[in-house]
Amino acid sequence: MRAVSIFSLLALSSFAAAAGVESRSSPSESYSLYAYGEDVGGLPLYYSDGNAVVSKKAPANATEVTFSPSSSGDSMVGNPANSTSTKNSFSDQELFIPSSDSSSTQVGFTSNSTATDDEVTNKFVWYGNFLLVEEDSGEYTSLFYVKKTSQEDVYSLQWNVTDEDDGEFISVSMRSIAPSNA
Ligand SMILES: *[C@@H]1O[C@H](CO)[C@@H](O)[C@H](O)[C@H]1NC(C)=O
Ligand SMILES: *[C@@H]1O[C@H](CO)[C@@H](O)[C@H](O)[C@H]1NC(C)=O
Ligand SMILES: *[C@@H]1O[C@H](CO)[C@@H](O)[C@H](O)[C@H]1NC(C)=O
Ligand SMILES: *[C@@H]1O[C@H](CO)[C@@H](O)[C@H](O)[C@H]1NC(C)=O
Repeated sequence: MRAVSIFSLLALSSFAAAAGVESRSSPSESYSLYAYGEDVGGLPLYYSDGNAVVSKKAPANATEVTFSPSSSGDSMVGNPANSTSTKNSFSDQELFIPSSDSSSTQVGFTSNSTATDDEVTNKFVWYGNFLLVEEDSGEYTSLFYVKKTSQEDVYSLQWNVTDEDDGEFISVSMRSIAPSNA
């Protein structure tokens, strides 16, 4: 299963590279992100104390994120999906993936002014409704994983896990489309 999904993403990404500019356009309206993988059927993304988590229903202490369409394309600015909710509030936080030098694999949120060198916010590219990341080599890739947390049905979102074989991690793709049963 996993091999198949990675293979099709690789196929997608080389196609995306060949297709050029068109594939890079980010969604033109506000959108949410959903994780899809084996036994992970399109779980929405939440902000939890600066970390990105996905879950079937709102975890205690987390806020669903809505992203704004970006004029410049490559970064993703998030705000609470429910503007009247005050728990775990945040504003204008950018999604980041850990850099290739980072010892962390946790995906999270950072503010524009405080992002560290280990927090990459400006390499996101779209292929249709699939979120990919442009590597230093110029290739587009998707190395998203989820990992169970201590809270039931809540997974943390990870990037470029290299010790995935211990079975804790599930390879996922991140898409801007909600599951049809949502
Ligand atoms: C809840 O969020 C607060 C503030 O964001 C954080 O300090 C705390 O550790 C979180 N608690 C849990 C259980 O995640
Ligand atoms: C938004 O948050 C408020 C306050 O917590 C809550 O009453 C309301 O039901 C929420 N709306 C949605 C659509 O989740
Ligand atoms: C993934 O992690 C490996 C080992 O830490 C690193 O060499 C590689 O550059 C990383 N790839 C990406 C795309 O971050
Ligand atoms: C972050 O900084 C860049 C460059 O200064 C700017 O173009 C972008 O609009 C900023 N994003 C936010 C969310 O402020």
